[in-house]
This record gives sequence, structure tokens and C-alpha cells, in this order.
Amino acid sequence: MAQRTITLRRPDDWHLHLRDGEEMRSVLGHTAQVFGRALIMPNLKPPVRQTCDALNYRRRILQALEAMPKYGYFNPLMTIYLTDDTSITDIVIAAASEHVLAAKLYPANATTNSAAGVTDIGKLDPVFGAMEKNGLVLSIHGETLKNDQGEIDIFDREASFIETLDSIIERHPDLRIVVEHVTTRKMVEFVQAAGPNVAATITAHHLLFNRNALFKGGIRPHHYCLPVLKREEDRQALLAAATSGSPGFFLGTDSAPHARDTKEAACGCAGCYTAHAALPLYAEAFDAAGALDRLEGFASHFGADFYRLPRNRGTVTLIQKPWTVPKTYPFDKEALVPLRAGEEVLWQVED
Ligand code: DOR
Ligand code: ZN
Repeated sequence: MAQRTITLRRPDDWHLHLRDGEEMRSVLGHTAQVFGRALIMPNLKPPVRQTCDALNYRRRILQALEAMPKYGYFNPLMTIYLTDDTSITDIVIAAASEHVLAAKLYPANATTNSAAGVTDIGKLDPVFGAMEKNGLVLSIHGETLKNDQGEIDIFDREASFIETLDSIIERHPDLRIVVEHVTTRKMVEFVQAAGPNVAATITAHHLLFNRNALFKGGIRPHHYCLPVLKREEDRQALLAAATSGSPGFFLGTDSAPHARDTKEAACGCAGCYTAHAALPLYAEAFDAAGALDRLEGFASHFGADFYRLPRNRGTVTLIQKPWTVPKTYPFDKEALVPLRAGEEVLWQVED
């Protein structure tokens, strides 16, 4: 029987952690060999706060790409990290740069390298106003950690953020917002109802797994990410949104490399590494839902349209041909354990 194939316009990854230095050089090729562009998250240590930091980071990525001449088309798009001290001038400068597409809101301590994040979102209102006025997208890690009653249950943190999100939208109706890595039915429904200025990215791992994957036969640190995996009904809602053909949902892997020792530990880091098989993993999820024909819009059209960039030229072809994921990939002097390590992925990108 002939192998099934699907050809798509070259896709983009609208949410990617690349890290820096040797770590970045270790993982960059996985993304650059498939994606035309990726929106690079700013949660380095220290964070990428200013446009000049973002442009210097971008230059380091471009230098690393010089060692990979086949992927010369790859264009890293940058974000800046919002803090309590971000000023309106910082926003005006970022919005004027063609290479900076968004400012990222991490509620303080919500996730990896977010200690410098925002402690009081209300106080950032003038900054959101400047973003609205200057056309800089607000990219949000949408989780609330605490309320008046105390610490919020980890499985409820995303749904609890809806109230905050709603008030930002109400005060800034023209602000364009991407709710990153949505994980719950409630947030999906909120985004669907919010109108064309609000969109969401969805990861491959949240499409493929529910929270049982964290505890299957024992604790599974390589399935731990933030926002944490949710219930099966939430996964079903994500899958329905991703395959719906709605332009408000698009591809963002949140691929987040961590050295093996820092995940397989008494207090393991959050993050799933998926860049090695990103598009094939999405293809599996879409195919299982009988919606492979909807993958191109999600992967290659809707994100570019939302960020008001031209869609990529060129194509990539996926073949339904199983391959076994290596147990580890090199990560600077360490190793990282990719999603599906030692197991099969059903699709692959044609070379
Ligand atoms: O699981 C995650 N890992 N979630 C995030 O929000 C950050 C990321 C990282 O940088 O490792
Ligand atoms: Zn992320």
C-alpha cells in the first residue's frame, strides 16, 4: 500500500524555548529544519527584558544558524519579558522593531524562570495601553497562583486566570492577545467567545496526553510541564478547537528543553521537549481525530495571519512512516530526554 503523505505550506512555531549558548546550539536544528519561523520565549536567566537584549539574543541564534546552512530560511522572531518595571518607553521601542513581535506576561513564579515576572497585573495597565496603541501583541502564560483564599489548586490555575484576562480585554479591546499553551475546556471556550483580537496556541503534548500520563505506572517527569496536563475532557476540547478550522487556535509547541538530571530529580523542572518531532506529533493528534486536512491552517496559516505576517513560502511533506525516537539527544554537555523517548512516532518529515 502506498504511504500516506501530506504536504503543507512551511509551518511556524508560535511558542518556543530555545535557551542560549551551547544549549541553544544543541536544539536549534530540530526546529529550523521544519519551521520557517518561531516565536522565541524570553525566559532566559536573566530574562530578555529590553529590545536590545532581544536583538542580541536573535543575533546569537542567527550566528548558530550559520553552522546549519541548509536552514538559512529560518527566521527567529523575538519577545520581551514583562516585569513590574517595564515602562511605556520599553513598549514603544519594542513595537518599533520588526524583529520583536510580542511582550510576554509571566505571572511571577508561575513557571520556569518566571521569578522576575509580574507581581501585580493591575499595575501593568498603562503598559497594556501602550501595547494596544502601538500594536505589540500580549503573549500570556495564563495561570493565577493565589487569590484571597490562598494558593489555588494547580489544576485550577488556568481557569482562575480567566477573570484577569477578561478584565484586561475589557479595558483594552484593541489589544491583541495570545493565550499561550491553553490546556482547559474553560479557557478554550473563553477564547472562542472573545473575538478576533484574542487567540491561543496549543501544544502537541496537550493534544496527545491527559494528566494520567503523569502517573502511568509511576511518576513521569518528562510529561511534567506547566500549565500541567489536564483531564481527558479538556484534551478533547483542545483537540476539537485545534481541528475546528478556527483561526483563533494555532501551533505553538512550548518545546522546553531541560537537562535530564534537572527533570529526573526530587524537584524536577517543568517542560516537555517536543521540537525533535513537533510536526509529526501534531499530525498524529490531527489524524487520530480524522482531521489531517485541518493541520495546514493550524500549523501554517492562522498564526502568521494573527501576527500580520505573510505566510511562509515553500512546503514540507509529512510521510506516515513510523520511526523510533532516540532515548536522548545531546544538550550542551548533558543529555535531554525527548517526548516519546525510545518509542515510535507515526509520521516523519520528508528530508
Ligand atoms: O513547562 C514549561 N516549561 N512551561 C513554561 O511555561 C516554561 C517552560 C520552560 O521554560 O521550561
Ligand atoms: Zn513556554
